[in-house]
Amino acid sequence: MSESTAAVTGDPRTHVTLSEIYEQPRAITDTLAAYVSGNILNTEAWAGVRSVLRGSDRLIVAASGTSRHAGLVGEIMIEEASGVAVDVEYASEYPYRRYDTLQAPSVLVLSQSGETADTLLALREATSRGARTISITNVEGSTMAREADATLLTRAGKEVAIAATKSFTTQLVLLHLLSLLLGRERGRLSAPEVAEDLQQLATIPSIIAGSLPGWEQRMSEIVPSFAAAEAFLFLGRALHYPIAREGALKLKEVSYIHAEAYPTGELKHGPNALLGEGAPIVVLATRDEADPSSMLRYRRSLQLLEEIARQRINALVIATEGDTEIEAVATNVVFVPRTTEALLPLLEVIPLQLFAYFMSLQKGLDVDRPRNLVKAVTTE
Ligand code: G6P
Repeated sequence: MSESTAAVTGDPRTHVTLSEIYEQPRAITDTLAAYVSGNILNTEAWAGVRSVLRGSDRLIVAASGTSRHAGLVGEIMIEEASGVAVDVEYASEYPYRRYDTLQAPSVLVLSQSGETADTLLALREATSRGARTISITNVEGSTMAREADATLLTRAGKEVAIAATKSFTTQLVLLHLLSLLLGRERGRLSAPEVAEDLQQLATIPSIIAGSLPGWEQRMSEIVPSFAAAEAFLFLGRALHYPIAREGALKLKEVSYIHAEAYPTGELKHGPNALLGEGAPIVVLATRDEADPSSMLRYRRSLQLLEEIARQRINALVIATEGDTEIEAVATNVVFVPRTTEALLPLLEVIPLQLFAYFMSLQKGLDVDRPRNLVKAVTTE
């Protein structure tokens, strides 16, 4: 798998996908400005959501596609920060689940467009079951924004490319803020802890802006070594597993290459058999040195990468700056700056968006308008 062709060149003036990837620092800044005041959550902006969630210790998230992957990250963030139990459902499956057998949990729908038919149906079904509802959408005045009991708006700005990018990272930001709100309300987080977290979060837009040119350059150089790949396995643990799923979805959508994601520990339970010359691997192996569970996860991933290197499998690895061990076990490493475990997904998904973008360009495809896909699926 060492086909050496020239690096692929991207152009944000030609490709709206790339220009939207570059808009993410602005989109996150605008979203934070609407929901955070200084180092506290803006009381007024969160009033509706607080009233829906008051007394509720169970939350169902229903969403489709990329939005569902944001929900899967949110599930872990909310449970960690607040102890509120979260279940994430495919919106299209929600109506078939008997969530009404228990006391009705609150239901959160996530949708960039606010119009996806399956998600809208889930919202209406939740209402008819007596649940209180929240929508997180990018389109003010969309059907979901109008029909939910409370709405949070991502401020990504109009998203044109079929493959969602900036809507995803702004959804992650709102879900992170929601986890802080619930953590504070349930007495799990102190005011100084929330303030410290918000300070870290406020640095993310400039970290992304400063990293984007380097990530773009690096990915354009790396993709030629994957030119012969026919399928990819994406691996991640904990919060990073949904990011692996999102990376795989992006690649499928814009490059038409088969890609599946697994929790890293599952590799040995079947998928390993697929790996080989035409089936490389993408591994999320970032770490937060201040967080013991993040370091445990990292150590296990490092061990796996050593085994993968012995099998001579080509691997793309997303790791954290300052990690000198990783380069001993992988050649194609893309580094993201250091941040806290909960904020790493915001950084690591962007190199994966760029990976999908360059793989699409390498195959000469229309990255902005992939075949058979539409921006919002408004019929069931
Ligand atoms: C379509 C789009 C995806 C999107 C999904 C959900 O499949 O092609 O990019 O993630 O719908 O869309 P929503 O607007 O509900 O987030």
